[in-house]
Amino acid sequence: MNEFYQKDIISIKDFDKEKLEKIFTLTEKIMQLNPSERREICKGKTLGYLFYEPSTRTRLSFDSAMASIGGNSLGISNVASSSTQKGESLADTVRMISIYSDVLVLRHTLDGSSRFAAEVSDKPLINAGSGTEEHPTQAIQDLFTMKKEKKKIDGLKIGIVGDLKYGRTVYSLLHGLGNYDVDVRLISPESLRIRSDSTYEIKQKLDLTETTNIEEHLDELDVLYVTRIQKERFPDEEEYLKVKGSYVVGLDMLKRMKDDAIILHPLPRIDEISAEVDNTKNAKYFKQVEYGMHTRAALLGVTLNENGF
Ligand code: NCD
Repeated sequence: MNEFYQKDIISIKDFDKEKLEKIFTLTEKIMQLNPSERREICKGKTLGYLFYEPSTRTRLSFDSAMASIGGNSLGISNVASSSTQKGESLADTVRMISIYSDVLVLRHTLDGSSRFAAEVSDKPLINAGSGTEEHPTQAIQDLFTMKKEKKKIDGLKIGIVGDLKYGRTVYSLLHGLGNYDVDVRLISPESLRIRSDSTYEIKQKLDLTETTNIEEHLDELDVLYVTRIQKERFPDEEEYLKVKGSYVVGLDMLKRMKDDAIILHPLPRIDEISAEVDNTKNAKYFKQVEYGMHTRAALLGVTLNENGF
């Protein structure tokens, strides 16, 4: 039996290097199959999604991933239109949607929500973002993008810039990178430094430098992972306004980077990367979206097929 079969995907911490590499190999396989072969992988299977927070990118990514391997999706993408407004509990909503589905995808505002939902669901559950805690499938997409675009992960110098306090993609990415030999520079305003409750574990595994100064790292980086300031997670607007626009990656910055450095972003982008960067060979954030669809298809494929694909 394949080791991913019917398993929840709650945290990237459950993926060691070997598991990550297996998913990357299967992603490559999916990319090489022709569309009709691909559609056999999850033919007739249903993905049920519950999004308690706004999301277009991740939901579309799961939708298109499932469609590409022959499955279909249904679910609730807007809490305002669901029974939650009538007072239905998360547990009941999860149980209800799991009746219609073979696999569940949950995004929720609360840390711990996915672990809780996985306990009440009798179908495997995939965490598509739990509060400020984790976003494991995004990390797998990000790591795969690095591997494809830089031909390796070990040995890379990676800058992660922006909102390191509230950005859940950053936590999952750091734990994922902990499986590799990388040099990570964490660049943020003082008030948005990585949360100290999470740094202990991450620092056991990773060589980290924390700084507010992006300029002095630019020329060394192979990858610059840019994140949005998570406005909606700030306790008050005043604090947000103080850090808004702290770092904007434009052509001026790009000129000071290695010629083959790549710029990544989990999206949505607000103003932290200027549009002028989009047409450069370094901008890989839309390619990252494409890889995200294929990595999710690989994850769904192994979760739903006892003998893999
Ligand atoms: C991220 C998220 O939801 O955490 N978006 C995504 O899933 N692509 C990043 C963000 O919202 O800034």
